[in-house]
Order: sequence, then C-alpha cells, then structure tokens
Amino acid sequence: MSELTSPLTEQLSVATITEDVPKAEFSDRVPIQSIILREDGGSGLAGKKARVGGWVKTGRKADKDAFAFLELNDGSCAGNLQVIVEASLADLGQLVLTGTCVVVDGHLKLPPSGTKQKIELRADKVLHVGPVDPAKYPLPKGRLTLEFLRDVVHLRSRSNTISAVARIRNALAFATHTFFNKHGFLYVHTPIVTTSDCEGAGEMFQVTTLFNEAERVEKELIQNPPPTEADVEAAKLVVLEKGAVVSQLKSAKADKKEISASVDELKKAKENASKLEERSKLKPGIPRKDGKVDYTRDFFARQAFLTVSGQLQVESYACALSSVYTFGPTFRAENSHTSRHLAEFWMVEPEIAFADLEDDMKCAEAYVKFMCQWLLDNCHEDMQFMADKFDKGCIDRLKMVASTPFIRLSYTEAVEILEVAVKNGKKFENEVEWGIDLASEHERYLTEVKFQKPVIVYNYPKGIKAFYMRLNDDSKTVAAMDVLVPKVGELIGGSQREERFDVIQQRIKEMGLPLEPYEWYLDLRRFGTVKHAGFGLGFERMILFATGLENIRDVIPFPRYPGRADL
Ligand code: 4AD
Ligand code: MG
Repeated sequence: MSELTSPLTEQLSVATITEDVPKAEFSDRVPIQSIILREDGGSGLAGKKARVGGWVKTGRKADKDAFAFLELNDGSCAGNLQVIVEASLADLGQLVLTGTCVVVDGHLKLPPSGTKQKIELRADKVLHVGPVDPAKYPLPKGRLTLEFLRDVVHLRSRSNTISAVARIRNALAFATHTFFNKHGFLYVHTPIVTTSDCEGAGEMFQVTTLFNEAERVEKELIQNPPPTEADVEAAKLVVLEKGAVVSQLKSAKADKKEISASVDELKKAKENASKLEERSKLKPGIPRKDGKVDYTRDFFARQAFLTVSGQLQVESYACALSSVYTFGPTFRAENSHTSRHLAEFWMVEPEIAFADLEDDMKCAEAYVKFMCQWLLDNCHEDMQFMADKFDKGCIDRLKMVASTPFIRLSYTEAVEILEVAVKNGKKFENEVEWGIDLASEHERYLTEVKFQKPVIVYNYPKGIKAFYMRLNDDSKTVAAMDVLVPKVGELIGGSQREERFDVIQQRIKEMGLPLEPYEWYLDLRRFGTVKHAGFGLGFERMILFATGLENIRDVIPFPRYPGRADL
C-alpha cells in the first residue's frame, strides 16, 4: 500500500472535504434548518464553512458600525441563523433592513457564552444582496396582525406565522398521502370542471366562455361592422356569374388553362360569399335559444361548473379499484363570511369498496389520529411556535386526539343530549328538535363542552342529507356520519353509499332531482354494484384544528371568499 492511500491520509482528506457543511441538493446554499435544527443546535458544526441565503428578519449595526448582526431566515424552519457581517464586506446600512435578501459565504462559530443561539455564522464574503426600500416595503418590522397580512398575501409567506402554517400544511398533506398509501389506497385525480352537481344542493361556480366570447364579438363588430344582407346577396350574385362563365367555357370546349383559371375565380367567389354570410350572422350578446341561454354554444357544449366534491367521480374508481382517495381543490359559491368557510378549499376524500359505515368511521378516526401523531413527530418546532403565539393547548390537543378513542353517538342521542342541555339552561340560537340540521353551535357544544374530545355523530335524518347516503332499515335515517372536533366543529362529513339501484333511483326522484345527469352514477349500481362508503375531510379545517388559529383565511396560501380573490 502506498503512503498516499494509507488509512491515515484517507482520514485526513475526509476531514478536509467535510469542512463545508453539505449544500441542499438542488440549490446553492445550506438550508438553515440543517444547521440549527440539529440535536446540538448546530454547535457541532463550529469551524465548518457554509453558504447560506435568506431574508433578514431583523438586523442591527454594532461596534460603531463596524459589524452588522443579521437574523436570517430561509423558511426551511421557524428559527433564524445569526449572521455577522463586517463593514468591509458590504453596505451594512442596506443589509440590516428587514426583508433584504442576503447570500453569504462564511464560517460557523460558537457564539460568546451566555447567548441564546448555539451557533452563528461569521461572513467571509457577501455574494448577493436583494435590497429593500423600507419606505415602500409593505411588511414593516415588528409583529403584524393576521388581518393586516391578509391584505398582502403575496408577501405574507415571509411572516413567521404564515411560513409556519405553510410547513404544517405541507406536513399534513404528506401525512395524508403516507396514510392512504400505507393502507393500500390509490390516489385518483378527479376533475375540477364537472357537469354533475354532487350534492344536488351545493351552490356552484359556473365555468363558461360565453362572456368573453360575447365581448370579443362585440368589440369585433364595432371595429369591423358586419356585412349587410345586400352585401351578402351581391356576393352570391358574383358566385352565379362566375359559375356561368365556367359552364360557358366548358361547353365551348375552351382551352384547359382558361377553364382552370375561371374555376379558381369561382372558388374564390364562393369562399368570399360564405365568409360574408357567416359574419352577417354574428350578433352581439350571449347566444340564446327558446328564451334561454344556448349552452350548446359554450366551450363544453353544455353547462359546466367547478366541482363541489370529487366524491361521485371517485366512486367510479372505488367500484373498480376498491380503495381510492382524491385530494384536490373544491369550490362552493355560498355567500358565507364565517371563519370556517372558504369559496375554494381542499378536500381529502377516500372511498372504500366492500366497506360499511362502521369501516368508514374507523378509517376517519385512524386518519385523523395519524395526522395528529405525524405533527407531534415531525413538526415540533412549528407546533411549539403555535403554542407560544396562538393557542397554548394545541400540542396537548394533538396528543389527546392521537391517543383517545373518539366518542360515537347516533344523531338521535346527540339531539337528546342537546335537549337536556337546553332544559338545564343552555341557550342556543337555533332551536333543537329531532330533524334539524345540527348547527355549528350544537356541534361545538357536543365536542367542546359535553365531551371535550372528537365526536362522531351518525345516522342522520334522511331529509337533511344527500340522496346518495344509504337508507337505514328504519326508513327515517341514513348511514351518514360527521366527525366533530374541538375548535372547529365539523371536520369530516361522510356516509355509506346507497348501493341498491331501486332505492337510490327512488331517492333521486324523491329529492326532486333529474335522473338524466345521474345515469352514469346509476350505472355503478346497475352493473356490479357493491357496498361502499367514504368521507370528505376539509383540509383547511384540519389545519385550523391543529394550529389553533381562528380564521380559515390564514391557513390557505391564497384565500378566496366573497368579494376577495387576490392574485
Ligand atoms: O360535508 P361535506 O359537504 O361533504 C362532501 O362534500 C362529501 N361529498 C364528502 C364525501 O363523502 N366524499 O364536506 C366535507 C368537509 C366538511 O366536513 C368540512 O370540513 C369541509 O369539507 N368543508 C369546507 N371547508 C371549508 N370551506 C367550506 N366552504 C367548506 N364546506 C365544507
Ligand atoms: Mg357536511
């Protein structure tokens, strides 16, 4: 063995190579998370070199402006890395401004004892400065309210709260895919644009190009007025004349070249006439037929909407692939201004064949518990931030939900409990009696006051639920279930589906819905029908529940609600 490759020199060369902290695989810097979120808080990296980039949270100059101390955050975690920059390296006045983007090469060192952080970076070179004009920057330094941040959605991801929410949201999405994957569910992408209205009642957003098309035609007609009837007639006359010339030449056995030239002219005249005729039919406004909007002229040649739920379509996959789920955006055009409703929200909808309501409830409970445990295992830093800033109890709540069996109550039992509460002096705005749709105040009473844990209410009166829910033997209730949780109320709505052809057909008619649009859905019962069940979890409601935040508009990056759709 030569001296060069002796074990000793190998060790030495490894030591010099590892002097740099490894960079992220697809970007040119070390994520701050991989420095400060180590078990040792980063102290074990002292002496190593690192390139970091981020946005200045706070900065200050020190030692008679000889140095700047920057709290740098790159969103990889909640914490900041303290970066020290000498005046010879950059314009410190610019660097210390909140919001400035900075990339530096430096070396990690232990801070003076007694300081909070375990490691800091001493800059050797400033590679990039993305400056900020503090007079114009919409995010002033200091604590900003969530209401204020809603007016700057394009920059609010730089705030501590919204970036923590983004990481928690991402973790919950990953947990969702992990859970369903682990249990053998296939992820199915259901359409966003739909021509069936899932619930038969949900307010839907219409998808149409009729308006922009009408506007385009109106503009066009002003710039370039349509031909009159006389213009069209004149063009048709030209066609007749040219036609006559062609037949004359043919019968006179004229020269081939001469004939073909006159045929060309005839063709041109025909094209011109048909173009004029087409344009003369252009009319401003929305196309109508028999007094109604003519949707056959719309983009999809029929009325179309944004989906309120992927359920009906995902059922067709469940009735072939057995265990499936969809996870995507859903839309409801309700005019609700509550802190629990969005016009665009994300829903996770599993659908399971060979499963009944009991299986459905078990799956819902296991899934919610899995997500809670996932956050405890993977999002400690961000959850602690939420506990410190917004909701002291949020971590304990996750622990409780992850470990406590959910209460199960029939709707009838739930109403009885509410009636007893009313007798004992509890005041509800909405009257309680068997048959009502439980209001949010009732749901929250059950889960927050009475049981103080998640509650599954099942077997609801058929009159208040959708047509596809399986009719129970009592003919009064359906096999529906809602999961109610503290802080939020309804987190999940689901049911066993009606798999009996005659019964579901009857239910559609009873509810006054047309059969025709559901024929495809009825086919799932006509051919190879199977017992099946599923549910929908409101993804933003799950984030509200986990973080303890009060308003659903703060847990989706770009909230849409009546009067508001920024960006
Ligand atoms: O109870 P919902 O309306 O159920 C369905 O849409 C079924 N098709 C689901 C299924 O069985 N596959 O909605 C499901 C959940 C609710 O429990 C709630 O958490 C959430 O979606 N949700 C909303 N979240 C935010 N904003 C809104 N406007 C919401 N409407 C419902
Ligand atoms: Mg519901």
